[in-house]
Amino acid sequence: MCGIVAYLGNKPAVPLLLEGLKRLEYRGYDSAGIATLTDQGLEIVKAVGRVANVEAKIEAQGGLPGSQGLAHTRWATHGGVTEANAHPHRDDRNGICLVHNGIIENYASIRRLLEDKGHSFYSETDTEVLAALVGELYDPAHGLDLEKSVQAALREVTGAYAIAVMCEREPGVMVCARKGSPLLVGVGNGEYVVASDPAAIIAHTAQAVSLDDYNVCRITRDGFRTTTIDNIELTPKVMQLEMDLEQIELGAFDHYMRKEIYEQPKALRTTMRGRLDEKEGRVVLGGLLTLAPQLVKSRRVILTAQGTALHAAMIGEYLLEDLAKIPAECEYASEFRYRNPIIEDGTVMIAVSQSGETADTLAALHEAKDRGALTLGVINVVGSTMSRVTDAGVYLRVGPEIGVASTKAFTGQVAALTMIALFMARRRLMSPEASARLMGELAQIPDKIERCLAFDDQIRQVTEKYVHRENWLFLGRGYNYPTALEGALKLKEISYIHAEGMPAAEMKHGPIALIDEGMPVVFIANKGNQYDKVMSNIAEVRARGGHVIAVATEGDEEIRHYAEDVLYVPDIPECLSPMLTVVPLQLLAYHAAVLRGHDVDKPRNLAKSVTVE
Ligand code: M6R
Repeated sequence: MCGIVAYLGNKPAVPLLLEGLKRLEYRGYDSAGIATLTDQGLEIVKAVGRVANVEAKIEAQGGLPGSQGLAHTRWATHGGVTEANAHPHRDDRNGICLVHNGIIENYASIRRLLEDKGHSFYSETDTEVLAALVGELYDPAHGLDLEKSVQAALREVTGAYAIAVMCEREPGVMVCARKGSPLLVGVGNGEYVVASDPAAIIAHTAQAVSLDDYNVCRITRDGFRTTTIDNIELTPKVMQLEMDLEQIELGAFDHYMRKEIYEQPKALRTTMRGRLDEKEGRVVLGGLLTLAPQLVKSRRVILTAQGTALHAAMIGEYLLEDLAKIPAECEYASEFRYRNPIIEDGTVMIAVSQSGETADTLAALHEAKDRGALTLGVINVVGSTMSRVTDAGVYLRVGPEIGVASTKAFTGQVAALTMIALFMARRRLMSPEASARLMGELAQIPDKIERCLAFDDQIRQVTEKYVHRENWLFLGRGYNYPTALEGALKLKEISYIHAEGMPAAEMKHGPIALIDEGMPVVFIANKGNQYDKVMSNIAEVRARGGHVIAVATEGDEEIRHYAEDVLYVPDIPECLSPMLTVVPLQLLAYHAAVLRGHDVDKPRNLAKSVTVE
């Protein structure tokens, strides 16, 4: 989704802003722009399409001067993908210039009010309205300088925002603020880099202040101060960013998605490090410790998420019922919020999210919290909105995920949910021996993923055979039904091949009509409770001419008689198997996208983090 980078310091702003924008490209966007400010005034360059288009325009006009500037990548919400709608936006009176992530919900009424006062607008955006509102209120002669007029404007708006603002009449000053959309102020040596994502800051400084909702920060080259929108002064906490440059660079890989698939063994070792006490058969989750008594007594768990995170949450539902014997249900966050859900005493909501910013999930979380649920987060991004809103949680610790197609976050989410299930199970009824046994198996997952990765070449060859086919099915049962959904989602989002995932048994109830000669049907057919049933489903597909690609357990030679192609994964207890069976599906989707010539890390229409409902 949208991205913000802003700079105030002593270096030329444009190279730094362009570099920052490029680091945010992975988030998905459709237009971009840069503004710089000098004593001579504002200069703004915008373009539809890639950041490279803005760069080319700036070069063509001989550069942009200044060591203060704002930059933005926009993912259209209000108004089409046009240069006029791209940010930065400026007001029509006082030289206010602004970039904005989020949505100003009451922008239409504010716009009408401003039009009545004679303001004119050049775009369809809510952001231009916010710039005009700041401009309308700007009145330094009466104490309403840039900082105060931004505070006053933000008291009038509803919705979500992360903003950075400059004013032609106050060069050397930058004001930024947040509510519901992340914003960090990177604090360097005499310079500041403000960004919506640490990836745009880390090359310059590892020190940053993460703004809280309703915080406003006024920055000059000599220092900064933070206040609330009511101008109450705050003491900012400068923190160390938990990211290094290597984590967000491609290194020897062609794409972030492939890098992150390959990072899974290392990432999961970090997810589990210090959390598995096999001797005592206990999972140690510091974030949940104080809530342990409440969790043990909980009567029902609702897991909620969207997309890939939802598939991980579905596996969490199975794990909680199977291991901890707690009634659990998993639901699209977008549906939960709007169906007047019943939250009884003893209900726990677990929100699963890589970014911790997904608007649908956040809204469901607020709904459950308002209705009295205890809320937990299974989140990757430290300090994200969800991690602040939830009562407690477990961080994934898989490192930054740049690829739009979520891979290492998925396996990290499943590992974290497994640990939560064991944390509760052991405190309820699971014996130390049984818990220790499972923890021992869990600890082997990273090594076993490495074995799955060793089949990469074979997976590419299998993909080559079917990549021209436009319709695929992914089928699984039990723990691997969500894996089938995830395999289908991966394939469609980056290769644009139509793929459906479903429980293998459901196929007979309609979708079997789709199967024709040569249709690729991927079965997750590892050894488990329902293996024989999956074999029957495979036979049904074969009888109708479908091509079966089976993900199976190493050593299962029998399956070669039923499937055209077999992708092996190591043996593991069924409840842990999705962390292995998903790996060949991730690679299959990756190879399909590359073979079809798509931009794997920037799939069309998608954003890394979906911050609108
Ligand atoms: O940041 P989140 O985990 O909350 O994001 C949820 C989904 O938008 C995300 O998983 C999406 O489905 C991925 N692009 C899938 O690869």
